Amino acid sequence: MIDLKLLLKILFGDPVHPPIPNIRTSKDDTLYFDGLTRGTAISGDPGTGKTSWEAGELKRYAITFPDGPIIVYDLNSSLTNEFNTQIELMPDSPEKENIQKRIVVDIPGHETHVLPKPIFSPEHGLSEEDLVQVVTSIIEELNPEKIALTPMMAQSLEVTAPQLARLIMAIRNEYGESWQVTEGKKLLMDEGMLKKACKEYGHFVPEAKWYFENQLLAKGVTPQGYEARTSALIGTLSAIESRPLRARYGHYRPHITYKEIIDKGLIYFVSGEKIANQEKVQAWVYWCEFALLRALINLRTPHDPNDKPVLIVIDEVYKLFEIRGMANALGQISTYFRSRKLMAVVIIQAFWQLDERFQEQYWNFGNIISFAMSNHNDAYTISQQLGQYNPTSEKFRARSNHSQPVAEADRGQYLMMANWLQNLKARQMVMRRYSTEQEKDPYLRFVEKTRDKLTGTLRAPIAEIKEEIFKRRAIPIRDALEVINKRTLQKETKPPSA
Ligand SMILES: Nc1ncnc2c1ncn2[C@@H]1O[C@H](COP(=O)(O)OP(=O)(O)OP(=O)(O)O)[C@@H](O)[C@H]1O
Ligand SMILES: [Mg+2]
Repeated sequence: MIDLKLLLKILFGDPVHPPIPNIRTSKDDTLYFDGLTRGTAISGDPGTGKTSWEAGELKRYAITFPDGPIIVYDLNSSLTNEFNTQIELMPDSPEKENIQKRIVVDIPGHETHVLPKPIFSPEHGLSEEDLVQVVTSIIEELNPEKIALTPMMAQSLEVTAPQLARLIMAIRNEYGESWQVTEGKKLLMDEGMLKKACKEYGHFVPEAKWYFENQLLAKGVTPQGYEARTSALIGTLSAIESRPLRARYGHYRPHITYKEIIDKGLIYFVSGEKIANQEKVQAWVYWCEFALLRALINLRTPHDPNDKPVLIVIDEVYKLFEIRGMANALGQISTYFRSRKLMAVVIIQAFWQLDERFQEQYWNFGNIISFAMSNHNDAYTISQQLGQYNPTSEKFRARSNHSQPVAEADRGQYLMMANWLQNLKARQMVMRRYSTEQEKDPYLRFVEKTRDKLTGTLRAPIAEIKEEIFKRRAIPIRDALEVINKRTLQKETKPPSA
């Protein structure tokens, strides 16, 4: 009797996917927009086509929702470049024009220009206490090991940080513009200045004034004690001392806020190519961005139909994934994010690159896309997750477990699928997707080749086009620093006899 497998092979050639129940080969490589609130996680080896595919999805989303806000945190800048290339190559049309008007490019660490993003500003649409919490969360999340170390360190961070933030915000000039985190270190390192700040401005923030005068600056505190209480804070604030970052965080007014992005449906890229080699800065910049966004999303009432969905894509920003608060946040994807319409997409290469906490949260994402994953353990993990999802896998087990324990049958299936995932070609992918917020597509989809992207000649190199867009809102660093460098405690400038 002829083997069935052999017969199929003779008739149809090599099968494109292994006999996994409920998998279907599909030309359609898109997600359902209605399922995006479930969150989307994309993994795959370098160069398999993750970013190009996501750029295509973003383009489709941007066209479909002309006032839908999109936020992209992109460490290696390829998603920013790819998206902007694809938009540039669109034939002229009202859609193209609409998208181009909405794009804002932010390049932290740029040598000559800066998109100012000071934290302390009413333009964020957040209360002063919300802003204090944003700063406190930066200090805490960037120092997990110090908080764990000694009670003194923990106190210095958890107590001193919010009080310092309150005091800084209370120091305002005649235009009502406050100091910024860029002055925090100076205040902590110069006791005389800190005392003066408490004296002149402390009455606006009595709690902070009391803390500094009666705790940190109290008579009993030795210089060593003072240093112990402040050094971790000073260390964290040192990460933003370079000229570009001082300009970014020290300017008196943000040139873009999440409030504006959401209200106007802008498309905002934080392109990290200039800070690619500065890990501390990456953590600062991207966590600060996310903390500001989350503070605004926190103001939403769950399931409010008037809230605009916000799409946020994070392409390989591993420093951000390492942050405990980020993993915790993504752990709430199916509850908190979903009810407040924050739709997250994360892109990674491999699980072994991820922090453990983040790995655990990965399976909370509803839409899971895997390009080739050459690491066997990673491929096996994905197979297990996608296999479990399969609604008919019970049947599969029932058929195949006559002589073997169920676990063995499963293991066989997972191994087969893992082996296949390891050997996918570039631009091939497997997709589990939600068709609506509640319902899954009944099939796992195998895409033999992701859609072709537009090709053509750009009017200028993409780096130049990006700079051009960046400079629509950016200002020279020199100008931003000029304002910052002039900051003094007003009384300080008067002659001593006055
Ligand atoms: N849909 C597509 N059409 C045409 N070319 C593509 C497509 N997808 C990927 N490519 C090409 O394959 C290469 C890798 O693609 P891409 O940068 O999207 O991969 P990636 O998985 O994001 O890689 P990395 O992990 O290194 O960021 C690029 O040169 C890209 O132009
Ligand atoms: Mg990529």
